[in-house]
Amino acid sequence: MADALLKSDAAEAVEEDLPEDLEEAILELKSQRNAVLLAHYYQESEVQDLADFVGDSLALAQAAKQVDRDVIAFCGVNFMAETAKILNPKRTVVVPDLDAGCSLADGCQADDFRKFIDEHGRPPVLSYINTSAEVKALSDLICTSSNAVEMARALGEGPIIFAPDRHLARWVEQQEGTPELIIWPGTCVVHEQFSAKRLAQLKVRHPDAEVLAHPECDDAVLALSDFIASTTGIIKRAIDSPARTLIIATEDGVFHQIHRSAPDKELIQAPGMDESCACNQCPYMRLNTLEKLYLCLRDLAPEVTVPEPIRKAALRPIDRMLALS
Ligand code: 13P
Ligand code: SF4
Repeated sequence: MADALLKSDAAEAVEEDLPEDLEEAILELKSQRNAVLLAHYYQESEVQDLADFVGDSLALAQAAKQVDRDVIAFCGVNFMAETAKILNPKRTVVVPDLDAGCSLADGCQADDFRKFIDEHGRPPVLSYINTSAEVKALSDLICTSSNAVEMARALGEGPIIFAPDRHLARWVEQQEGTPELIIWPGTCVVHEQFSAKRLAQLKVRHPDAEVLAHPECDDAVLALSDFIASTTGIIKRAIDSPARTLIIATEDGVFHQIHRSAPDKELIQAPGMDESCACNQCPYMRLNTLEKLYLCLRDLAPEVTVPEPIRKAALRPIDRMLALS
């Protein structure tokens, strides 16, 4: 009971503290703090519109490395903010909500992953950027969805370990010149829920539509897709495609940038297995709100930190990826 009271008192205090014009207050704080605001495409559109830079996970890592301001306010999920801290340790990195995790990163804990590497005789390890700093520190090379094929090829003939997304891994394996992969069996809660059966039905109703999908979707959905790419790749293709109608199998945050650049296109969300939920919105990404962004810039908290030995060990495979990209 006492706990409940404390919580509701805190909520009221937070409510009272919020300025009326949040957007303006955030911009003012951003300049006072000498901060830069980086956002992933899966953020709410009002967060994307305030950001200095919006990108996919590779572009955000590249941008974070270049930041020369004092503070990076990172609107994305924690592994992305951690990557920014690893690449640019002198900056203070803050996030709106420290609970913004990722089903892929959470499903691959460092101790279990270390055992997995040992059990398979310690082959080269390629890890997706959707992992914790500790898992990155155990890896030889990092990849994102936009360069996974290129990075896998860079590690030779294999077999190599690929973690943690099994759908992305299967897709990489099917591309020419990639090594045999030993696959950690993780999945993304958002991309896994698209339904191939319902997508096939939708395609019948829209025969001229082009289907664009993220490689974290499962095999059956990818087999029905015309174009497979990272979020940046999907946005670019949607804008440039000759097709007027696009069916999109990824988080629906990408719709905002497509609408801005190509307002005449008809965008249809690929159907999920459960018709009744907004399952194509990442529950972790959507924890970030304008209110929490304001508070994190005001309080410079929560701050993302990475212990120095882990940071140094994780930096090596990330830098290797950036050099190869
Ligand atoms: P991108 O590499 O396309 O940004 O994907 C990140 C991600 O979390 C996909 O779910
Ligand atoms: Fe992780 Fe999936 Fe959310 Fe991307 S969309 S952050 S992979 S849970």
